[in-house]
Amino acid sequence: MAAAKQPEPDPVLSLRGVAVRVGGRTLWSGVDLTVGAGEFTAVLGPNGVGKSTLVKVLLGVLPAAAGEVRVLGGAPGARSGAVGYLPQRRSFDASVRIRGVDVVRLGLDGDRWGIPVPGLGRARRQAARERVAEVVELVGASAYAHRPIGQCSGGEQQRLLIAQALIRRPQVLLLDEPLDSLDLPNQSAIAALLGRICHQEQVSVVMVAHDVNPILHHLDRVVYIAEGGAVAGTPTEVITSETLTRLYRTPIEVLRTSDGRLVVVGQPEAPALHSDRHPEPGTGGGGHVAG
Ligand SMILES: Nc1ncnc2c1ncn2[C@@H]1O[C@H](COP(=O)(O)OP(=O)(O)OP(=O)(O)O)[C@@H](O)[C@H]1O
Ligand SMILES: [Mg+2]
Repeated sequence: MAAAKQPEPDPVLSLRGVAVRVGGRTLWSGVDLTVGAGEFTAVLGPNGVGKSTLVKVLLGVLPAAAGEVRVLGGAPGARSGAVGYLPQRRSFDASVRIRGVDVVRLGLDGDRWGIPVPGLGRARRQAARERVAEVVELVGASAYAHRPIGQCSGGEQQRLLIAQALIRRPQVLLLDEPLDSLDLPNQSAIAALLGRICHQEQVSVVMVAHDVNPILHHLDRVVYIAEGGAVAGTPTEVITSETLTRLYRTPIEVLRTSDGRLVVVGQPEAPALHSDRHPEPGTGGGGHVAG
């Protein structure tokens, strides 16, 4: 007699035939994606195609125009306490006096910020302090977490904000360009940290990224968005000359360098848009390190 088959666990995130409209315009449609517990997904594509908008749909702040979106078994936004979020391009002005640890703590009780909470006992305050110290340590920010955040560098602020997104032990972590403004060693370090959180603690990570290379080794799934369309699948399925040529309707070549990096040549994106993030020579001029 055949052994009884284990039922498939419910996916943590699922999109079926999803389309999104902003300002009366459909950004993309027909997106199918399933993300399981502990899977690491990258959302890639040129500026303005709707990557951040996809994150907003998963957060439940923007309804899908078509199709079905499920997050942790319910409607997006229904279990917001279990979803950590790092918005795109956040930075604190030099005059901001709030300490890094206080910014991290906002992730726990942001809704009560600045208001003394009656009845929040000593034990809870102590537990909160310990959790803050734990996530600050986890992201490697202990050395500067007690400084005013406005005096931390962009990369240091980034780590503190990742700690803020992690503090409630989310089951889903939505990160919109978390590697933005980090140098290459820090991109690799944060990617490795997120890979560990994802695979060891079974947190499902969805990360919008500009460059796939720092995260390539950790990735389980990729969503590539182009104007009007999107493809989703494993990196080996999606990041190929054939798939990207079909998606962008223009010849695109995916090359793999001897050290395993991917180079996408011919991607329809103005390289100048990202010259601030890709200052090294050889990645501009129509060639583009994948992402
Ligand atoms: N509320 C809105 N009303 C009208 N258009 C909008 C609105 N929000 C976003 N858009 C437009 O939708 C498109 C997609 O925006 P989105 O922020 O998702 O792009 P993105 O892929 O994240 O780009 P980037 O790489 O620059 O961050 C853009 O053209 C943007 O101008
Ligand atoms: Mg964006």
